[in-house]
Amino acid sequence: SAAKPWAGRFEQPTDAFVEAFTASVGFDHRLYRQDIAGSIAHARMLAHQGILDADECDAIVAGLTRIGERITAGDFAWSEALEDVHMNIEAALTAEVGDAGKRLHTGRSRNDQVATDIRLWLREEIDALLGGIDALVAALLDLAEREAETIMPGFTHLQVAQPITFGHHMMAWVEMLERDADRFRDCRRRLNVMPLGAAALAGTTYPIDRSFTAAALGFEHAAENSLDAVSDRDFAIEFAAAAAIAMMHLSRCSEELILWSSAQFGFIELSDAYCTGSSIMPQKKNPDVPELVRGKTGRIFGHLMGLLTLMKGQPLAYNKDNQEDKEPLFDTADNLRGALKVFADMMRHVSCNRARMRAAASQGFATATDLADYLVHRGIAFRDAHEIVGKAVAFGIRSGRDLAELSLEELRRFSPAIGEDVYSVLTLEGAVAARNHLGGTAPEQVRAAIARKRRARAET
Ligand code: ARG
Repeated sequence: SAAKPWAGRFEQPTDAFVEAFTASVGFDHRLYRQDIAGSIAHARMLAHQGILDADECDAIVAGLTRIGERITAGDFAWSEALEDVHMNIEAALTAEVGDAGKRLHTGRSRNDQVATDIRLWLREEIDALLGGIDALVAALLDLAEREAETIMPGFTHLQVAQPITFGHHMMAWVEMLERDADRFRDCRRRLNVMPLGAAALAGTTYPIDRSFTAAALGFEHAAENSLDAVSDRDFAIEFAAAAAIAMMHLSRCSEELILWSSAQFGFIELSDAYCTGSSIMPQKKNPDVPELVRGKTGRIFGHLMGLLTLMKGQPLAYNKDNQEDKEPLFDTADNLRGALKVFADMMRHVSCNRARMRAAASQGFATATDLADYLVHRGIAFRDAHEIVGKAVAFGIRSGRDLAELSLEELRRFSPAIGEDVYSVLTLEGAVAARNHLGGTAPEQVRAAIARKRRARAET
């Protein structure tokens, strides 16, 4: 097995099982681009400070660049005996360029190295996730515009509550997703601080220039405290929390899509491309994509809990426990990215059954609140109006008709304040159009909200 860079003080070889048990290269090889970028910046800083010769630095940079190309091309043999991505690349560098490679680790430790790598990686992942959220928001804005006037029942307790528009419902999803994006941006800002220079835990005796390295790697600044820089993974927890909240939102959206595409609701139809059939029941078209997104939410929540628990008992500074941060982060990012992509594509191919939605809204006395408001306009106290309408609803239930289907004479039995003009508030279109203020469900407001979002997007 390959010689370990730390083997000097050891007299016996590592137990073979322990070697496999402690190795992380099987998963952290994924950080190779960030590891190489960090090493190149570190080498350039060392040369700038006169700690490395210029030609040593050039050899290191060229060697690392070649190694990066080989890894990308799949032409690199990872060694478990070399434990992790950092020692694999360093050993390959020394094999590639000789003695200069051995000088790269001057003033550095794997502890500040790995903390830097993950931050660089998360920064890129967050940018990709923000792109994914953006694509989904764009799809929802188009759908909301197309269905700005489509009436559907709004629910509370999953019971018909008041009529709303499908466009308004889609714009609620947009609000949720925009806050998700905001949480990721906030997380990105806090994690964009550079650990390099903290070395193992206390800093280094070389005359390093941490601002030089931070600028080269696009960090806002260097971390203020070396112990904190190598030990805390709060930024990873924050990322996992933002991801868990975003998945919670996608899961709620999924649940609605699943309900709406059932025969009992029949509000929407998902494209065949996003569904699968049953191997036994020939009639089936199952909403697998939203079901799987809802299902994947479980593991994302689990990763958040895993990372919190990973951190809670650790004394300062670095502990090997932290090697366990990577797999949950990778899995979180991969699954959230996938969920966002499939959702954006799927939502572009949703067809709405407007007649079914309208029919559902016209059942369940969705305009009962409007009748109460109508009575209030005629001088009746809201609590009395509520009672009057409740009686009218009970009558409707008994006679199997909605409020708009009762005759004026029947309605007036409940209140003489009711006049011929009541029918304009009992219609679905009237009820929806009347909620015409910022944040309301009126089509005019939905269109205004879409326009505001589009303007804001064009500005950034
Ligand atoms: N593979 C390690 C990790 O992921 C790298 C840092 C190891 N440092 C150490 N002192 N053992 O955290």
